[in-house]
Amino acid sequence: MRNILQQVKRATAVGAVTLAGLGLLPGTALAAPADTRTTPPVVGGTPAEQGEFPFMVRLSMGCGGALYTQDIVLTAAHCVDGSGPTTDITATAGVVDLEDPQALTATSTEVLQAPGYNGTGKDWALIKLDKALDLPTLPIAGTGSYDSGDFTIAGWGADQEGGSQQRHLLKATVPFIDDATCKSAGGSYAGLVEEEELCAGLPEGGVDTCQGDSGGPMFRKDDAGRWIQVGIVSWGEGCARPGKPGVYTQVSHFAADIGTAAAQLGG
Ligand code: ARG
Repeated sequence: MRNILQQVKRATAVGAVTLAGLGLLPGTALAAPADTRTTPPVVGGTPAEQGEFPFMVRLSMGCGGALYTQDIVLTAAHCVDGSGPTTDITATAGVVDLEDPQALTATSTEVLQAPGYNGTGKDWALIKLDKALDLPTLPIAGTGSYDSGDFTIAGWGADQEGGSQQRHLLKATVPFIDDATCKSAGGSYAGLVEEEELCAGLPEGGVDTCQGDSGGPMFRKDDAGRWIQVGIVSWGEGCARPGKPGVYTQVSHFAADIGTAAAQLGG
């Protein structure tokens, strides 16, 4: 995990935002005929359908989140400034198009950043809203039994490394990467906090979350066929680079702490 400054810079960089990075450099996809590419074809995100992920939240500081309850958003610690009362954050939800007039919005009343957060691991926070949003919530994984397989990622962040924020929600699927493989990516990955972080991505890159997706959920179906949150978008070296996975907060490890924190917020 990187330090706080780097993360906040990433969260707020111009053009920062989302998901589904492209596996090619900007322009390359258009320049090269599909059959002559030496890199994989673009396998980044595709538009989400209205109502497909009703728990998705866009936060005004340029992050994503998910409805933990109807008035508490689970996001990343590096997306917030610490804990305490604040009316600075606006949450937008209930739409895939952020400019849809049907969007539901709410204002923050309080933020609770993960206790002990110092920029390494523990990348989660809760935001209490001034009103309940009448939308389905996203339950979090209470055990590690879903911390493998294929995961869904979604967000309004950049659609390629260095790209701009998206108006429409994008989605993609990324497979689990085990800790040893993830650490072997070197650089920042060598410092992976194994208990607290979960890696996902394709070995060849091309699909990933990106700047502005931070704080958003990574999720999959549980045994009953319902969406369950297993990760929180945290960091990566660039976006969708080969051999450089996305790193996500391992939600199951913090499930009890998140529950305690939510109770403190009256949720
Ligand atoms: N820290 C970034 C943000 O603030 C998220 C980066 C995710 N990067 C990745 N390659 N998966 O939006």
